Amino acid sequence: MECLYTESIEYIQSFSLLGVIGLVAVTYSLINIINTLLWTPFKLFLLARVLPGVDFRQLGKWAVVTGGSDGIGRGYARSLAKRGMNILMISKYHENLHRTEQELRREYGVDVKSVAVDFTNTEVYETIRHELQGLDVGVLINNVGTGTGSAFQTFLQINNLLQSTTDVLRVNCISMTNMCALILPQMLEKRKGVIVNISSIGQSGYLGSPVYSASKSYVSRLSDCLQRTYRNSGVIIQTVEPGIVMTDLYMSEYENGTAPKFLETAKNYTSVAAEDFASSAVNTIGWTGISNGCLKHYFVSVLAKIGSQKTIDKKLLDVINN
Ligand SMILES: NC(=O)c1ccc[n+]([C@@H]2O[C@H](COP(=O)([O-])OP(=O)(O)OC[C@H]3O[C@@H](n4cnc5c(N)ncnc54)[C@H](OP(=O)(O)O)[C@@H]3O)[C@@H](O)[C@H]2O)c1
Ligand SMILES: *[C@@H]1O[C@H](CO)[C@@H](O)[C@H](O)[C@H]1NC(C)=O
Ligand SMILES: *[C@@H]1O[C@H](CO)[C@@H](O)[C@H](O)[C@H]1NC(C)=O
Ligand SMILES: *[C@@H]1O[C@H](CO)[C@@H](O)[C@H](O)[C@H]1NC(C)=O
Repeated sequence: MECLYTESIEYIQSFSLLGVIGLVAVTYSLINIINTLLWTPFKLFLLARVLPGVDFRQLGKWAVVTGGSDGIGRGYARSLAKRGMNILMISKYHENLHRTEQELRREYGVDVKSVAVDFTNTEVYETIRHELQGLDVGVLINNVGTGTGSAFQTFLQINNLLQSTTDVLRVNCISMTNMCALILPQMLEKRKGVIVNISSIGQSGYLGSPVYSASKSYVSRLSDCLQRTYRNSGVIIQTVEPGIVMTDLYMSEYENGTAPKFLETAKNYTSVAAEDFASSAVNTIGWTGISNGCLKHYFVSVLAKIGSQKTIDKKLLDVINN
């Protein structure tokens, strides 16, 4: 009798220990799911839009946007000009710069400067340093980026592999590194400022543009290191990982009728206009260290995390190799 009693107590005890572990696990997963599916999107794409966020004008008079004359960069330039910042754009072609310059002056009445340089040339930073002299810079958007000409080529299929890789690394990686080296010191001294680095959802390793993808991985990693280094410096550092944004870059890389069907479907359902993307992304500054910029792309990244890399790789390689 005694023996039976002890045994059943032990049984109940071990049962309740398992029960507690189970309950903790279930609660933890539930919190995770609620956080991912409800709280984070609610906070970043609704609260951040309606509540007053970072007061950009108090950070400094100027925002510097690389690749600011077109696409996502132009969207950032417009969004920041709308909030009263003067804009310094750095892009390649005079005509595009001139067009966007006129537009910003006319619509927002802010001061605008532009510098025409080609980031595939690494000698341009002296010119940029010169142009930056005396400017009180509050915001730096490291946006300029380029690809290897197609988003459906494996490593060895890339046209003119060596030159094209060198250009991508110079435009995507060297430019951000140098721009930060030029501007971060004045921000740290003032103990305020915002730096945004534009990476890509593809930074996790997209086989259709391996070099581009890897360059964006560099952007995300360096950005993350600097974010952690300067956590308490007053300077806000954010990494943005967009999905599909309808810009020239997207068109030239994907839009020649060669996209696999699942990517076309992805485009039909998840693509966003550059200006809408940038205005949503600007609202998330100060709210998160890493952002997908807009609600649609946030959910694309959640799906991508639970999706199977192997399946995507296989589909893509099937298309590329046919
Ligand atoms: N579009 C997407 O779906 C997508 C997705 C994920 C990430 N991104 C990233 O978002 C960023 C912006 O892309 P986007 O789609 O907006 O590109 P975009 O429409 O092609 O615009 C690129 C901007 O950068 C400038 N630029 C390009 N190459 C340059 C060079 N060698 N030297 C100087 N300026 C140069 C362009 O100026 P000019 O017109 O004067 O050449 C233009 O102002 C990139 O970092 C890209 O990797 C884009
Ligand atoms: C797509 O077409 C454009 C314009 O004709 C061209 O510049 C670009 O290189 C093409 N891209 C690919 C991947 O073939
Ligand atoms: C991204 O952000 C930090 C912000 O300070 C910057 O210093 C860093 O150089 C940037 N990333 C890259 C790839 O340059
Ligand atoms: C995507 O949209 C285009 C234009 O609306 C349509 O022609 C095409 O069939 C759609 N593709 C897919 C895969 O849904």
